[in-house]
Amino acid sequence: MKYVIANWKMNLGVRESVALARGTLLALQGKEKVPEIILCPSFTALSEVKKTLARTRMALGAQNVGPGRAGAFTGEVGAAQLEDAGVTYVILGHSERRITFAEPQEVIAEKLRAVADSTSLTPILCVGEPEGFERNPYILSELKAALKGLTYNRRKKLMIAYEPVWAIGTGTPATPGDVIPVVDFIKAAVKEIAGIEEERVQVLYGGSVTAANAYAFLREPKIDGLLVGSSSLKMQEIHGIINAACDVVNVQDSVWH
Ligand code: PGA
Repeated sequence: MKYVIANWKMNLGVRESVALARGTLLALQGKEKVPEIILCPSFTALSEVKKTLARTRMALGAQNVGPGRAGAFTGEVGAAQLEDAGVTYVILGHSERRITFAEPQEVIAEKLRAVADSTSLTPILCVGEPEGFERNPYILSELKAALKGLTYNRRKKLMIAYEPVWAIGTGTPATPGDVIPVVDFIKAAVKEIAGIEEERVQVLYGGSVTAANAYAFLREPKIDGLLVGSSSLKMQEIHGIINAACDVVNVQDSVWH
């Protein structure tokens, strides 16, 4: 399976979000085998986008979650509220939260525990080094901090998005050749730290993904999918990315069956 996650960030009103969801859905028209596509609007648009996605082959994700199921956390949206809104995936630890909002590693770990405890939410944990930092030690420290004390349901997926900070919103993506060894490194580290088997861990790439470069990542069997920011707001771009993922899913299917 391949995943395409659309992170719309702090953009679009409710009506615009519904319109973009409808437009994005058109990319799957007439397609038999499709990748898992997850649309992540702002909290304000979750309910309406959920209605738009009902009985379609796309899922709903949130861009963030509070540190717990419910409680006295002014301004936060908890795991229980996301479940109630029909959300099934949650992005956490995005570098914009880690850096711009100085979100501490312990808080990210608490968020991951809250999502891990939910029966219906799948976490998408973002990791990645800023410019000038050595990649593997940086990622390892983020993984160790996030997975600390985590007891993980054996049947649950854990998704990890490798997003080098220098690639996000810069127009300078990593290359598939850069990402493949990182996938192996992350899977081995997650197994070592939390005992989660490699088959249950999906590793995605994010950072300046476009319709022009998506296929090169998606065709790599080790790269499970893409986390897409600005290109997911542009109809032609997101259609191109989804088409690339559909092509790969169909080829995989004909090779493997
Ligand atoms: P970008 O953002 O695709 O605009 O680089 C990716 C992300 O922040 O997840």
